[in-house]
Amino acid sequence: MLAVEGSMRAYARHFGEDEEIWGVTGLLHDLDYERFSSLKDGHPRIAMAELRQRGVADEIIRAIGSHADEMGLSRDSTMERALYAVDELSGFVVACAYVRPEGLAGMTPKSVKKKMKTASFAAAVDRDQLRRGAEELGVEFDAHVAFTIAALQPHADVLLARDAAPDAAPATGAAPDAAPATGAAADAAPAAGAAPDAPSVAADDPPAPDPQR
Ligand SMILES: [Fe+2]
Repeated sequence: MLAVEGSMRAYARHFGEDEEIWGVTGLLHDLDYERFSSLKDGHPRIAMAELRQRGVADEIIRAIGSHADEMGLSRDSTMERALYAVDELSGFVVACAYVRPEGLAGMTPKSVKKKMKTASFAAAVDRDQLRRGAEELGVEFDAHVAFTIAALQPHADVLLARDAAPDAAPATGAAPDAAPATGAAADAAPAAGAAPDAPSVAADDPPAPDPQR
């Protein structure tokens, strides 16, 4: 969820939208997934109900609802389309970084697309959905991947933290929407001011083995 938050913050800045609202939406969108993973009657309904009860803004709750295709909600706002676009891709990019010695540093859309062609890699991630998300957002796919990589690079030390593995490793094999299971560092939000084009930060340690593979 931290990866999605980072991507959402970057896109909020890109579109001139409210970074805090977009960031919080990204951070909370899979709030209930660990305990209520069923897409038929659990996630994200439980999170939506909880947030509604706590008086969270409708735009956040609706975006969380619309990121799950199973809910059948249209994605009307740019924030809703952005969440859908970065959700799976952020997890996929982090998964790619885990198996690269350089982590996120120097990663290119080409290398991500190469991994997309490897069916066994992060197999639960729907490749068509990755492309559909970019289309809905109205961004060219390669540019979208490059943007997401750049958005995540400043947070590489948190996203790829070895001491947080395996709990913090991307749950690429577990969830249809493959959100990174970053619960171990849930309060370590990405820095609000980091720009998507900020200098890339390589993980200090070699990447942790992906326990999902
Ligand atoms: Fe989800």
